[in-house]
Amino acid sequence: MEQNNTLPEWNDELSVNVDAIDEDHKAFFRLAALLQDVASNLNNEQAYLIETAINILEEYIEGHFLREQLAMAKVDYPQMVEHISAHDAFADRVTLLVKEYRTNHDLTTILALAGLVADWLHHHIQCVDSQYKGLLTNENVDNRTMACMAAGLDPEFAP
Ligand SMILES: [Fe+2]
Repeated sequence: MEQNNTLPEWNDELSVNVDAIDEDHKAFFRLAALLQDVASNLNNEQAYLIETAINILEEYIEGHFLREQLAMAKVDYPQMVEHISAHDAFADRVTLLVKEYRTNHDLTTILALAGLVADWLHHHIQCVDSQYKGLLTNENVDNRTMACMAAGLDPEFAP
């Protein structure tokens, strides 16, 4: 599949009508913009910025995907298996690129990572997440912060 690296802008048509998930998705748009920014001004002094973006991306993958998947399980979402495979495939591709960057410090790998994230925004949020619209709601989605979700804290004890 051809990658589309043009960054889409957030707009209300992308809303899945679940506040916590919409906020996660908006954060992902901001993260994609940051990755594209560092990727298009490549120099080694940006290493700290790149590491920060990578850390946020990893937290996003852990926390946001868990939020969606727990809610899907709760409502017996019919496309849950396919949806989780799409999440896993994306997470695996990110892990590979991050490992490659941390081994070689080749800054063009960050360009590939930015492209992958932009592609995810184009295809997954717009086409795949939109399918659970109406089934996942504010009432059945865990609305703790992404950091809490990523830490895997038990909802019974988390703040
Ligand atoms: Fe998703």
